[in-house]
Amino acid sequence: MPSRMERPNIRNNFKRNNFKRMIALFAAAVWLPAVILIAAASFGFAQGAGEQRPTTGKDLYEAACASCHGPDGKGADRATVGFDIPLPDFTDCSFAVREPDSDWGAIIHEGGPARGFSDTMPSSGDALTSEEIEKVMDHLRSFCGNRAWPRGELNLPRPLVTEKAFPEDEAVLTTTVAAEGAGAVTHQLVYERRFAARNQIELAVPLALKRIDGRGWGGGVGDIALGFKRVLFHSLRTGSILSLSGETVLPTGEKSDGSGKGFTVFEPFVTFGQLLPSEGFLQFQGGVEIPAGGHGAAKEAFWRTAVGRSFTQARFGRTWSPMVELLGGRELEAGAKADWDLVPQFQVSLSTRQHILLNFGVRVPLNNAGPRPTQVMFYLLWDWFDGGLRQGW
Ligand code: HEC
Repeated sequence: MPSRMERPNIRNNFKRNNFKRMIALFAAAVWLPAVILIAAASFGFAQGAGEQRPTTGKDLYEAACASCHGPDGKGADRATVGFDIPLPDFTDCSFAVREPDSDWGAIIHEGGPARGFSDTMPSSGDALTSEEIEKVMDHLRSFCGNRAWPRGELNLPRPLVTEKAFPEDEAVLTTTVAAEGAGAVTHQLVYERRFAARNQIELAVPLALKRIDGRGWGGGVGDIALGFKRVLFHSLRTGSILSLSGETVLPTGEKSDGSGKGFTVFEPFVTFGQLLPSEGFLQFQGGVEIPAGGHGAAKEAFWRTAVGRSFTQARFGRTWSPMVELLGGRELEAGAKADWDLVPQFQVSLSTRQHILLNFGVRVPLNNAGPRPTQVMFYLLWDWFDGGLRQGW
């Protein structure tokens, strides 16, 4: 064993003898790979520009997007860009905030055609990493500074029956076919229109057709409903959106053939949407139907829940959203029993723009099935704000 006095000498000897080798090793182990990485990175980005790779969303935007989209996000003018395709205005909150990151990410990564837009919007391909695309999108988000508008991520897939919390610009044609008993088909056309950041008005027109024994099909326009919805709360951080709605159902249908109730009904209700991990979601609607006037009809409470999950085909492609609804309703009278229905269904986007969607499901009564036949239901949904019926395929 060396004495305490000898130790420093041993150390000094070690230092002297190995100093040069350590420098060499250090350089090889640390600096060489670092130098290679830096060289590779700048090669990948600068592509001959000879500049340092931008790191902030703003700098990335200015380097890669501003030549077309303008430094202010409003779109450079036609004379500058040299093409006629109108450029989006990212400062327009009504348009920009409703578009979810998933759609913009697909467009930025794959180019305009990924969502049925022009290929003048180039694909960033591998030139931008996912992290950089996120930074650029954060910068796009900064062009609308108004936080009153709920983000498009909170716009969950529309269930067949449960109403959504997100305010929409949509037209939906829902068809319900009785799968048992006498033939009965109902079409319902719903038109929804947003105004300002948090409001939406709605018009629902049902068309009921029934098989009348020996006389073929009969029926007509049912009870037309007018509605108003207002978002009370929304947060992308918690993934939640809560709205309050009021609907008036007018007695425009015919009571005798079952296409109408014969009296006006007021329907206040709340709707709630919650994002869940891994593209999951939960939606709830609860309210009461209050008949106007003294027709002897009872008030009714209803509560509806939908849970599901979205799957994206091939990373940026078609979206499939299987979900299941549990529907409950009960007259608000002593001794009344609740009716329960289950509606397994799946929604799928038909157009590349994802603005035309189909949902198909079956409404199965869980109890008290006598008066409520099993029904096949489907809808075609057109988000008309995002494009015409023939655009975006
Ligand atoms: C060569 C010009 C050009 C460049 C560069 C460009 N874009 Fe575009 N971008 C367009 C055009 C044109 C459209 C509209 C396409 C259409 O409406 O068919 C568009 C559309 C978009 C949209 C879709 C908006 C919507 O309607 O939902 C997004 C998002 C977008 N660009 C982001 C970017 C980002 C981010 C960059 C930079 C990484 C970028 N663009 C670079 C031309 C360009």
